[in-house]
Amino acid sequence: MAILEKHKILEKNASLLLIFSFLVVTIGGLVQIVPLFYLDNTIEEVEGMRPYTPLELAGREVYLREGCYVCHSQMIRPMRDEVERYGHYSLAAESMYDHPFQWGSKRTGPDLARVGGRYSDGWHVDHLRDPQSVVPESVMPKYDQLERTLVDGEYIGDLMRVHSWVGTPYTPEMLEAAQSDFLAQADPDSDYDGLLERYGEETVNVRNFDGQPGVSEADALIAYMQMLGTLVDFSTFTAEANR
Ligand code: HEC
Repeated sequence: MAILEKHKILEKNASLLLIFSFLVVTIGGLVQIVPLFYLDNTIEEVEGMRPYTPLELAGREVYLREGCYVCHSQMIRPMRDEVERYGHYSLAAESMYDHPFQWGSKRTGPDLARVGGRYSDGWHVDHLRDPQSVVPESVMPKYDQLERTLVDGEYIGDLMRVHSWVGTPYTPEMLEAAQSDFLAQADPDSDYDGLLERYGEETVNVRNFDGQPGVSEADALIAYMQMLGTLVDFSTFTAEANR
């Protein structure tokens, strides 16, 4: 074994071994890193993805502020048990407008990546107010203050502007109409045509989410949860078509 004999030279000479190890790691690193410079985008484009509406974005802020991510992940792994329980595994594109992403690393409660449409708004109101009233063994804390905290969306345009700095494609019209879109989504009696035109008719839910007068943090949070995982139509999605 001539080659093993030669390898002995390396193994017996610490500095030579160090130099060659460094070379190997460098080449290995380059092979992984260099191709990335020649890709326009490392996230494949997927039909259906759109930026969060102002109300959903506000709900997402409540989600972050309340630390929901401490107990809930938003990433379905491509393994059979997960896919059977939660639905299609998560695509990178599904978190492309998440700054920061909410994949999470701990599941005290279930994954929420596809919780949208799984429960009624009323269920969410009861569950946020008092989780044990609908799931007696739940260890989730009560968030009953959210439905009592009214919000007017005065600053939501600023938040959207921050998101557009980091790459979310909010148009000038979206930024202009931020507050009125915010209020319109939670009020089915309002003029919400503009909102649907800007964000898409099919995936924007316009409802009084918490069933109470005024726009509350619960409205925003429920609007956010009800859209999670609903944007990409998996009855028509195929991974190959998106290569
Ligand atoms: C201390 C951990 C903890 C925190 C914090 C927490 N949850 Fe939960 N959550 C749970 C557990 C456990 C369950 C499963 C039992 C149940 O349904 O209440 C759950 C269930 C849920 C469900 C139902 C999911 C399903 O598919 O059945 C939703 C929706 C939810 N939580 C939303 C939230 C939101 C929104 C927040 C933040 C405002 C939050 N949770 C904070 C532990 C937590």
